[in-house]
Order: sequence, then structure tokens, then C-alpha cells
Amino acid sequence: MEVNKVYLGDCIKKMKTLPAKSIDLVFADPPFNIGIKYDVHNDNMPYEEYYNWSEKWIKESHRLLKDKGTIYIAIGDEFASEINMILKKTGFYFRNWIVWYYTFGQNQRKKFNRAHTHILYFTKDKEGFTFNDKNIRISSARQLVYNDRRANPIGKIPDDVWSFSRVCGTFKERIGKHPCQMPENLLKLIIKTSSNEGDLVLDPFGGTGTTATVAQKLKRNFITMEKSKEYHSIILKRLNGRISEIEQDEEFSLGEQKTLFDCM
Ligand SMILES: C[S@@+](CC[C@H](N)C(=O)[O-])C[C@H]1O[C@@H](n2cnc3c(N)ncnc32)[C@H](O)[C@@H]1O
Repeated sequence: MEVNKVYLGDCIKKMKTLPAKSIDLVFADPPFNIGIKYDVHNDNMPYEEYYNWSEKWIKESHRLLKDKGTIYIAIGDEFASEINMILKKTGFYFRNWIVWYYTFGQNQRKKFNRAHTHILYFTKDKEGFTFNDKNIRISSARQLVYNDRRANPIGKIPDDVWSFSRVCGTFKERIGKHPCQMPENLLKLIIKTSSNEGDLVLDPFGGTGTTATVAQKLKRNFITMEKSKEYHSIILKRLNGRISEIEQDEEFSLGEQKTLFDCM
């Protein structure tokens, strides 16, 4: 199987062409079905259609993952319960319901500002899976604040609420015309935790190619898919270090174009 590849086209069709039990880690950040304006994807499917479609790519992910494989799915409030249920019904084992808390959420006028996205973390096997705790430990309050002798000297495993700024229009990390780029640091945490060097990471919804880019930086192999030609070309340029050639979107930086976070 060819690895380090960016497929242009529908992810379910492409996933079907890959061999079973070939992937170590799936990270998926699918469209949340909340009316985001993507290049070609319709983010306003009827409920049943979105549910059935989600079931299809999650079942394909299960087929593709090795027995010790792991899946993380980022999802908004609107479909988090459904995706959680589909994962369980597909045969995955629940590990964490992670909340990504982000700064720079969109201000609301008549409800509380939304400042989170769910990340559902499941494994294919209940017991056997990669969890590199030593790669991700952080200093604990016992160590930093209380100088407590009981503190574990190697630090603690991070909590299940993660704080990373979202990638705003004016940020240096922002790449091209895409409404919902994930921060690289979030992917770093996931990839370091749940894979090893040389492992194969799959992201069916490439977008700007954050997963593939971080996998490449961390010496993992990757496969990603994207059905928009424009976004596909952004991913290729990003992976090849040709970021300056990617057309920037003035509207995003001026805040005039709706992003994912305006629709929530
Ligand atoms: C939420 S974005 C992913 C953003 C990505 N995580 C990033 O950091 O840039 C979802 C992407 O999935 C793509 N997409 C939607 N349906 C698809 C499909 N059936 N096959 C492949 N890509 C699809 C959209 O074009 C969009 O770019």
C-alpha cells in the first residue's frame, strides 16, 4: 500500500480501496453538518442522511484499523451524541470524551459564547492499544504549586479538557481559504499519545492537511483524503513546504466570512 499520500476524492470510496487492518491511528474532523460554507461539501444534510453517512465512514475506519488501533473524532454539540453512539454500535471501546476548550470563540448576543469542541476517543480493543504516557506527561499542581513530596516526579497525564487556541484568521499558523483549520498542537498531542514513529495515521477529512503535516513532522506515515480540489492543492503545498504559494483569504482575516465558529 502506498503511504504518505493525499487522495483527491470521496473518502468513503478511497477508504474502501485500502486493505483491512492497515492503519494505526485515525483522526477525523468531519464536517459538523451545521451549515459551514465549504468549497464543495454540502454541510446541511438532512438528519438521517448525515447519520447514515457518518455510520459508513466510521464503519470503514473500524475495518481499516489494526486490532490495537485508535480513533479520535472531533465533533460539535449538534451530533456529538450520535457519533458517540455510532462508535459504540460499530464495536469501538470508549476511552475519553475530551473537551477541546478554545480561546477566541465567537461572541454571541443571546446565548453563552461557545468555546469548545468534543473529541471522542475510542480504541478498537478494550485493553491492547498504544498510549505513550511518557511522551505527554506534564508538571502537576503537586509539583508546581504545592511542592508536595507525594508528587510523581515524571509529572501527570493531561486532563480530558484541553486548552488550545483556535486558528483565527490573522494567526501565523493560518493557511489558505479554509473555514476550520485545526491547531497543530492539538494533533501533536493525539499523534504522540496514540502512535509511534513509523506508524500509519489516517485522516479521511484532510481540509488544510493539519493531521498529515503533524504526522510528517513526528516521523509517522500518513494517508489523507479531501474531496475539494482547492483544499487538496493546499494540503500538497503545505506538506511540501510551499506555504507562501497558498492563496490567502482576505475575507477571513477581516472577519467577513463565516467560519466554523460563527455557525456554532
Ligand atoms: C472540518 S474540515 C477538516 C479540517 C482539518 N482538520 C484541518 O485542520 O484543516 C472537513 C473537510 O472534509 C472535507 N470533506 C467533506 N466531505 C468529504 C468526503 N466525503 N470525502 C473527503 N473529504 C470530505 C471538506 O471539504 C473539508 O475540507
